[in-house]
Amino acid sequence: MAGKIVVLGTGGTIAGKAAAPGDNLGYTAAQLGVQDLLAAIPALAGLPIATEQVAQLDSKDMGPTAWRDLALRCAHWLAQPDLRGIVITHGTDTLEETAFFLQALLAPAKPVVVTCAMRPATALAPDGPQNLVDAIAVAQAPGARGVVAVCAGVIHGAREVRKVHPYRLDAFSSGDAGPLGHIEDGLLRIEGNWPAERASHAQAAMEKIASGAPWPRVEIVTSHAGAGGALVEALIQQGVDGLVVAATGNGSVHRELEAALLAAQAHGIRVVRSTRCEQGRVLPHRGDVLPHSDGLSPVKARIALLLELMAL
Ligand code: SIN
Repeated sequence: MAGKIVVLGTGGTIAGKAAAPGDNLGYTAAQLGVQDLLAAIPALAGLPIATEQVAQLDSKDMGPTAWRDLALRCAHWLAQPDLRGIVITHGTDTLEETAFFLQALLAPAKPVVVTCAMRPATALAPDGPQNLVDAIAVAQAPGARGVVAVCAGVIHGAREVRKVHPYRLDAFSSGDAGPLGHIEDGLLRIEGNWPAERASHAQAAMEKIASGAPWPRVEIVTSHAGAGGALVEALIQQGVDGLVVAATGNGSVHRELEAALLAAQAHGIRVVRSTRCEQGRVLPHRGDVLPHSDGLSPVKARIALLLELMAL
């Protein structure tokens, strides 16, 4: 192995346990420590792998505290000259958000590989150990850089990755862009580009995060049949700082919701338009009244806006 790897644990199904062996649904996420996950894989014994438990949660509960800790620990480890790469064990449910958050903030020149499992560690055939072995191989690969996700032998870029299935082992997709590559029996087949994009205000956002300052409030509202403006009006009353609308199709918004969003924009609240469609992006059009998300899904557009507002 060339260079040290650190595995940062944050919980998730990969660290989950069920009362009955083989129960793939009735389990509790985030029960085993990251060291236990590695100890269960004999092939990793004796390799220069350090571990750290940064959080221990079901990733549906991911939020600013764990993201702050993770960003700071990643920045710390990435600065170590002998470190080859970082692997993060994470729940699948918000993996794409954490991956995008870390890429936008750190755009690491070394690999940060986020991995997970769809079945708990107590499953008859758990997928976590193989995903972890694959993630470590990706973190060691020559030329690897940036934040990527590894699940079921597929490597996805942080910007594109999205959970698309609630149960299937191969639960992630990179949509139109296609995966960055594959990992097959330890061998990488790279078809795309390693992530390199960093948010332009990332440095200022990182300083704000490190200082422990409160995070701006950015909420997502959805345009749908029968949508109205009441939610947005309530959010304006509560002092929301930014809004992302998960719009229909190519960024269209129900007229009542749009009126409320335009009122929010007139109040100085930043509003960004993404699409509910799983694939593709909102294509800009002459006369658009709300800015689009530059291809980011609603949850990632929310993170981009959070970092932007943080840097103000
Ligand atoms: C979680 O996201 O922490 C639970 C679900 C999973 O990891 O698949």
